[in-house]
Amino acid sequence: MISLKTKVWLSILAAPAALIFIYVITMQVRNPETRWDWNEIEVDTIDFPPGFQWGVATSSHQVEGNCNNNWSRWEASFKADGTPRIHNGDRSIVACDHWNRYKEDIELIKALGVSVYRFSVEWSKIEPEAGHFDESAIQHYRDVCLALKAAGITPVVTLHHFTNPLWFEDMGAFENEANIRYFVRFSQRVFDSLKDHVAIWCTINEPAVYTTQGYFNGVWPPGKQNPQLAGEVMKNLLVAHTRVYEALKSRVDGKNYQVGIVKNVFPFDPYNRWNPIDWFVCSILDGVFNQGALDYFQTGKFSFSLPGMDKVKYINKSGIGSLDFIGLNNYSHQRVKSQLNPKEFFRFEFYPNEEMTDMFYPIYPEAIYRSIKRVKDINVPIIITENGIADKNDDHRRRYIERYLYAVSKAIKEGADIRGYYYWSLMDNFEWSEGYEMKFGLYEVDFTTQIRTLREGSKRYMDIVARFSQ
Ligand code: GAL
Repeated sequence: MISLKTKVWLSILAAPAALIFIYVITMQVRNPETRWDWNEIEVDTIDFPPGFQWGVATSSHQVEGNCNNNWSRWEASFKADGTPRIHNGDRSIVACDHWNRYKEDIELIKALGVSVYRFSVEWSKIEPEAGHFDESAIQHYRDVCLALKAAGITPVVTLHHFTNPLWFEDMGAFENEANIRYFVRFSQRVFDSLKDHVAIWCTINEPAVYTTQGYFNGVWPPGKQNPQLAGEVMKNLLVAHTRVYEALKSRVDGKNYQVGIVKNVFPFDPYNRWNPIDWFVCSILDGVFNQGALDYFQTGKFSFSLPGMDKVKYINKSGIGSLDFIGLNNYSHQRVKSQLNPKEFFRFEFYPNEEMTDMFYPIYPEAIYRSIKRVKDINVPIIITENGIADKNDDHRRRYIERYLYAVSKAIKEGADIRGYYYWSLMDNFEWSEGYEMKFGLYEVDFTTQIRTLREGSKRYMDIVARFSQ
């Protein structure tokens, strides 16, 4: 017999329990964790349309060497406890010496059989002081473009890939909307100088990564942990993109150029699909990291909200349509486990059977497929501007490449308008706070001798590129 007291309690709890149940079921239905049976899949049943752009990517700070910017200063500084900020105390210093070795590196790109090289221009070298442009640095990038074209390779330029000149960083960088004008001025200058050689322009690389690492986790410069500021920075980066887009498109022949942003999408999956708190955290993270920017381009509305901050809300109708293409970066997914710890109410934790890369995430090709399906809704052509694996033993690279490309091809067959795929990265390089230990390169780099050696696993990429480059 159930007592009256128990009956009362049960009736009080029934409604919230039912609501939580409905919430969990709705989340499960809306966010399936797609899993394919790779034992059944023939990875060679891929297809890519004629003219598909096969490429490789790098960024200036990670490969060039001798940068004097917010990152080089960060690398030389220490945490409050006196330990270095970068894994193993690494510093970028000469990196791959790509600034001096670009001609040899272009030969390496050519040897892969690809037809595109995505690289970034280093703002701190081009404009070392506010308003003072170094013509020799601009000439350097012109020379790079000319050498690429001579080798039959199309240059794709990124204007901002995480690094700022010190003068810009010291005035608050993208924390202040008023500073955006400096980035627009720089972008116009670079555009005017390189437009004879460059048709495809990426404005800003991964605004959400720049924001969360620099202003939420505080592990990248400027090392702040301030959700409110993170929201402002994220908004300002999107505004900066739109202003640069408008500025470049309104140049005399601007219409002839393709201008887009590079957006990283990382699906968030709950550790326990029956845990409503895991789902709740996933949806917050997804909003901040993925959906906020996607909404901005689809609706002109942006909102950013994390516990402990006032929601940042912004409406800019010119956000809609300020893209000729969207660059999509995807590497994997994240698995979220909530916990009863007010200082750290969730952590990322994977199942023991997930096949891990050397980074803190697994090989999960379905992630790129899911990410494509999301950015597809913006209705502009997609370029996969980055995808690749850190794999120092080179025993997963081959499988990673063939499976992720299978996923890309499947999305194309199902109607996604994907114009190209650029592998990250051409060669091992300075992997931000992870330093030199992460080996993303198709070419291995010996950082003592600067000798580059093609990895075995990379040949899978070369074979696929050759097959679809006729
Ligand atoms: C991206 C970033 C690249 C590179 C890559 C590998 O987020 O744009 O610069 O670091 O990740 O982790």
